[in-house]
Amino acid sequence: MAVTQNSLTALQVMQDAPVIPVIVLNDVAHAVPMARALLAGGVRMLEVTLRTPQALACIEAIAKEVPEAVVGAGTIRTRADAQAAANAGARFVVSPGYTSAVGQACRDVGLALLPGVATGSEIMMAQEDGFTELKFFPAMQAGGPAMLKAWSGPFFDVKFCPTGGVTLQNAPDFLALPNVICVGGSWIVPADAFASGDWARVTQLAKDTQALSK
Ligand code: 3PG
Repeated sequence: MAVTQNSLTALQVMQDAPVIPVIVLNDVAHAVPMARALLAGGVRMLEVTLRTPQALACIEAIAKEVPEAVVGAGTIRTRADAQAAANAGARFVVSPGYTSAVGQACRDVGLALLPGVATGSEIMMAQEDGFTELKFFPAMQAGGPAMLKAWSGPFFDVKFCPTGGVTLQNAPDFLALPNVICVGGSWIVPADAFASGDWARVTQLAKDTQALSK
C-alpha cells in the first residue's frame, strides 16, 4: 500500500495490521530500534503517545530514519498537539476523546484522525463532523466487546479500533466483531523491554499478533 501524508486515511491506518501498538517512549535513543523491532515483526503503523517530553523527538527520529514505518501521534488533545505532531512528521493521529476543535485541527494540518469515543453521544458528535472510523477507549473499562455489539445496531455505519485493556488473549473477542477492524494496545511494546534494549522480545511480541486475524 502506498501512503503519503495527504492520502493516508484512518481506514488505511486501521486496516494495515490487526494491532496498532500504543507506544510510550521516555528515551529518544529507543525510538529507532523500537520502530525497527516492530517492523521486523510485521507491524508498521506505530502510535507514539504524546505523554512524555521526548515523544515529539521520537516521532521525528522515526519519521526520518525508519521510512518504512508509518509513525503516528497518540494522546492528541488540543490543536497545538495536532500541529506539533504534524511538524514532527506524524502521518496520522489518535485522540483519547473527541471535540470538534480537535477534529478540525487535524483536518487543518492534513492528518487522518482516529477519534476516541466511549459513549453514544460522542459517536454522534464525531459522526456529525464526518468521522466514521473511531477508537473505542477505554475499551475494556467502558464495556468491552458487549458494548461494541450493542453499538452495532444504531451505529451500523461506524467501525472501531478498541483500545485500553486489550491483550493478546482478549483481542480475538474484539476482532471477531463485524464493527471492529483492528485493536490498539501497549502489550507489544513493554517498558521493561525498552529499558533493557530487548528488541528481540518486541519483535516476537509483534510477530505473535500476526496470528490474530480480522
Ligand atoms: C492508552 O492510551 O494507554 C492505551 O489505551 C493503551 O492501553 P493499554 O495499556 O491497556 O493497552
